[in-house]
Parts: sequence; structure tokens; C-alpha cells
Amino acid sequence: MAKNKIKVLLVASEAVPFAKVGGLADVVGAQGKIMQEQGIDVRIVIPKYRVVGENIEKLGLKVKHNFDFSITIDTREEKGCVEEVEYAGVTYYLIDRPEYFWRDGIYNDTQSKQDYPDNLRRFIFFSRAVIECAKGVGFQPDIIHAHDWQTGLIPVYLRTDYKADSFYRLTKCIFTIHNLAYQGIFPVEMFTLTGLDWKYFTIHGLEYYGHLNLMKGGIVYSDITTTVSETYAKEIQSPEFGNGLEGVMSDKAMYGNLFGIFNGVDYTEWHPSVDIYLKEHYAINYDIDTLDKKQQIKLKYLTENGIKKPDASKPLIGIISRLVDQKGWDIILEIIDQLFKEDIYFTVLGTGKYEYENRLKAVKNSYPDKMIIDIGFDIPKSHYIEAAADIYLMPSRFEPCGLNQLYSLSYGTIPVVRNTGGLADTVKDGKTGFVFKNYNPEELMIALKKAIDLFKSSPDKWRKLMENAMKEDWSWKKAIQSYNGIYDKLMLK
Ligand code: ADP
Ligand code: GLC
Repeated sequence: MAKNKIKVLLVASEAVPFAKVGGLADVVGAQGKIMQEQGIDVRIVIPKYRVVGENIEKLGLKVKHNFDFSITIDTREEKGCVEEVEYAGVTYYLIDRPEYFWRDGIYNDTQSKQDYPDNLRRFIFFSRAVIECAKGVGFQPDIIHAHDWQTGLIPVYLRTDYKADSFYRLTKCIFTIHNLAYQGIFPVEMFTLTGLDWKYFTIHGLEYYGHLNLMKGGIVYSDITTTVSETYAKEIQSPEFGNGLEGVMSDKAMYGNLFGIFNGVDYTEWHPSVDIYLKEHYAINYDIDTLDKKQQIKLKYLTENGIKKPDASKPLIGIISRLVDQKGWDIILEIIDQLFKEDIYFTVLGTGKYEYENRLKAVKNSYPDKMIIDIGFDIPKSHYIEAAADIYLMPSRFEPCGLNQLYSLSYGTIPVVRNTGGLADTVKDGKTGFVFKNYNPEELMIALKKAIDLFKSSPDKWRKLMENAMKEDWSWKKAIQSYNGIYDKLMLK
């Protein structure tokens, strides 16, 4: 008799192609698609932000209204509805409540860049709505797989308010940490909004140095916690990377319930031979046997961005990133004048802290013929840079997994990275990229200089590096096998 399909409900605050701030979105979208292809019955739940509505329209997808519900937060009854849409063979449930989600930003105000003051209410609403959603649509999950702090209350509610609910009697919970630097921490006075009994506000529950911590809730109440690389799974058990949760992480590991599972790359989106953005914009795709076409893209990219008489013999260094401390901007800015003494081009695409945005704009004014800068979020452009650049810069202070170094390998764009988290697990110094150890401007500059010098002095050796990089396989295959192993183990419990 055929085995019943495992039913998995993936829950997150972002997923491509609907809403994306960072790598979480790439991961959830791809994970859902690939699990579905592998015979798992997977459904995804995300909030219906304004941008989700816009993308649904752009993609020409049909939305089905599923059902209305209401949730009590504090004493207020809050109405919402569940909509349903299908994309890449996967059913998405969208939690709609315009008052909370129809805004320009996802987590913060796009002008002030401050977190929305009602983020706790928004994600309490979302978490409770997810639990109601599965019941309402009659999808009884074997596993709820929740991602990051925005969903941290889901395992908590399942083990408290819904403990006696027969619908969820057999449901197990996995919680995946994508970045321990963002924990969803709120003042203790707001705890009552969760609707939970104060007995859960302890050091063994949701309490964190006198505050409410949603990420901690997700970790403590999930059956299994995973994070997105093996190195990061070890790092977060130490004070340097644990952000105050190192003890909780070590406990989880001690009981055998913490795993590092590396994300994969969706090569239908991120491979230069099939990249639709390259095809539409440059009418060029390339692969390991047609690397001269990569140079054509580079020259076109430089020209269209105002670089006069671009010279292919000068390396183009690229970076696409959130402009936040995690990504190494302080050490990049420290070496920037030294870097521009070299014969190079530098292209930056990013958005984030005003301080970094302004400093980068000032750098552009000093080096107008060598630098391209785009402050903003632009998915097509992120693909152009991956293809056009020779060197990809990712000197992160910490990096749970990192996707751009993997995309860079796929595009033959040689990564220069720091030896931390997922970067340490993926880039091989001297074979597929350049790795430096300590977080300081001197080591960063030495690594960059090595890359620049090799590019200029030894085209053959450089080509070999590109070929090595492009032969690497970071597809989802391995990750899905590992998740399947955990799902199977949980279902036997
Ligand atoms: P993180 O999730 O910490 O931001 P990752 O390397 O995991 O880092 O993933 C970042 C993702 O977000 C990549 O897909 C990258 O291309 C994309 N990205 C980051 N900044 C921008 C931007 N300004 N415009 C377009 N895409 C961006
Ligand atoms: C987080 C991390 C990043 C990781 C991504 C997807 O945003 O900062 O390293 O690649 O999540 O897991």
C-alpha cells in the first residue's frame, strides 16, 4: 500500500516570489517547491502584505477567498481572512488583515526605518491565525515548520492553548533559526497581549533578561530546532554569537534537539544558463563553457551604469546586501580609499541603515568613474550583479548561512569572505574563493588584494577558480534529505 504523504505546514514572514527582505524568503519559497516535488504535501502560510497583493497581480495568479476568522488580542476582537493562491505547484495561504499588513514596509517604516511599534500585535495575530488557518482549511499537519522569531509563538500556543485540541494532537513542531541577531524582544508590559498565562514568563519559557522573547519561545517549545549551517549551530552555543541565548542553545543541543542544516540554492532561479533576468535584459545566458559571455555582460553592465570606456581587464567587485552591521560595512568603509587605489570597479546594491547609505553615496562622489551604487531593493539588478561581477565581497561579521556566496559560486563570481558561519562551510580558500580569518580591515584588504592580483596576473588560474566554483553543487537535495530525516524521526515519537 502506498505510504501516506507527510503533511508539512511551512510558516514564515517572507517567501519568494511574494515578499522578500532577505535570504529567508529565498529559502522558504524554494524549500516549499522542492519538498512538493519530492512528494511531501507542503503548504506555506505568510502574511498578506501590500507587496504580496502587488506580486500576485504581476504574476497573474488567481486568489481564492477561503474563510473569515476572528482572534481576540487583549480584549479586542480582530477579524481576518485566509486567502489561497497556488504558485509552482504549492498552495499558499495568505493571512489577510489590512490594518496590520497592508503597509509599505514588512517589519519597519520605510521612511524612518524604525520597527513598527505594533510588531508584537501583528505577529501574535499572525501566529494565532496560522493555527486557526490549518483547522479552517482542514489541513491537519504532521509537522508545523516555523521560521524565525515572527513565528516563535506558534510552538508555544500549540503546547499551551491548543494542548487539548484533538486536531493538533499528533502535530510536531520544528523551529528554524535564520538569524539569532533578530529575536523579537518586547517589553514585559506587553506580555499580556500574548494571552498566555504568566506562568510561562520564566527563565525556562519566554522570559529573557526581564523581557518577552519570541525567538526563545520558538526554541524552547519546538520539538526540534534547526539553524541554517553546521558552523552556525556550533557558534550560537557561544557568547560571541549566541546573543544571550547561548545557554538555551547549548541545552537544546545537549538533548540532541539542535541541528545545523545547510540551505540550498534554487538553480532554476540562480544559474547563469537559465537566469530569466539575464535573458530578458541582456539577451545573454552563459555557462562554464561560454565564460566569454560573462565578460560581455560585465561590459554591458558597466556601460549602462555610466562607466565610460569600460575596461574588461579591470576586475569588477560586487556586493548585494542589507546595509547593516552584520554584513561587514564598517571594515569595508575603512579600506575603501585603499581599495580604490587599485585598478578596479566596485558596484554596490543595498538598503538599510541611513549611516551606511550616506557614507556610500559620499564614496561614489569621490570615485564616480569607478563606482556604481544603487540604494534600494531591486531583484533583477541583484541577478545582473551576480553575473557581471568578477569578485563578490562578503566580509560578514557573522553569517548564519549566506546565500549570495552560493549564488556567486554558481555564476563564476569569485567570493571573498570571512571565515564564519555558512561562509566557512562553503568557500574553499584558494580553490573556489578567498577566505580571511579575523574580522578586521587589514585581513579583508589582504584577501581582496590577493583576488585582484590573481585576476590581473593569471587569467588561466582565475579561469580555473571560476570553473571550480561553478562545478560546486549546493542544491537543495542534501538539505531536504536532512529535513526528511528529522520529520521521520519526529513522526515516530
Ligand atoms: P540575509 O538574509 O542575511 O540578508 P543572504 O545572503 O542569506 O543574507 O540573502 C540575501 C538575499 O537577499 C539574497 O537573495 C540577495 O540577493 C537579496 N538581497 C539583499 N539585498 C538586496 C537588494 N538591495 N536588492 C535585491 N536583493 C537583495
Ligand atoms: C538570515 C541570515 C543568512 C541566511 C538567511 C537564510 O537572513 O542572515 O545568513 O542565509 O537567513 O537562511
